Amino acid sequence: MNLTSKSLEIASEFARVRRLRYALDMTLGNGRDTLALARMVEPGGAVFSFDVQAAALENSRNLILKEAGEDLLEKCRMFLASHEMYAKFIPENIVDKISVAFFNLGWLPGSDKSVITELKSTAEALRSLRGLFVRRARAGEDSLLNVLSYRGHKGAAQEFEFVEEFFNSLEEGGTDLTGVAVSRFGDFENPESPVLFSARFFPEGRGDI
Ligand SMILES: C[S@@+](CC[C@H](N)C(=O)[O-])C[C@H]1O[C@@H](n2cnc3c(N)ncnc32)[C@H](O)[C@@H]1O
Repeated sequence: MNLTSKSLEIASEFARVRRLRYALDMTLGNGRDTLALARMVEPGGAVFSFDVQAAALENSRNLILKEAGEDLLEKCRMFLASHEMYAKFIPENIVDKISVAFFNLGWLPGSDKSVITELKSTAEALRSLRGLFVRRARAGEDSLLNVLSYRGHKGAAQEFEFVEEFFNSLEEGGTDLTGVAVSRFGDFENPESPVLFSARFFPEGRGDI
């Protein structure tokens, strides 16, 4: 199973039945997810994307221009910043309207792999989004959080464990007063294979749709 495609397929289904105005790509990389998300957001909407490597912003800009042109590029707001800082770069009234957030952890494909996502900033960003999406659910709005997490490379195990525990706690009702449906995708026979964690936050009592 291609887990990046699966993550996009879940977002596309989410956007098909609800308006998708604002999305977050917390690990821009070469821009594939940002490009696909920008195609899903409604006119006037935007994708806010973050990466700590200038090469990621340049590669993504080139990819989006080549594959989709200026109009779609206008929907992509890319920031050279660590993802836990996201709320500092987005107007407050827009932050509350973000309904989809993506993480594809690990390193920039095609790079020397020296820059990888790290537990501390990943954890901080995820906790902040949990707060945001619980608030949105209380206000009657649905949200989607997808995290593709790897465990094969050096340093990844701790980050993976955190992500796994984070989604387990969501499922166990760690975010009381809201509904959360968690799904996991991957090759569960292989202890080194990546796992896609997906959580849908929705108003409690309404049931998942
Ligand atoms: C697996 S890649 C993302 C792939 C990307 N979604 C795509 O579609 O091409 C992971 C990216 O996360 C970036 N990254 C690492 N630490 C980060 C941080 N603290 N904040 C934002 N991005 C970070 C890396 O520079 C790398 O480009």
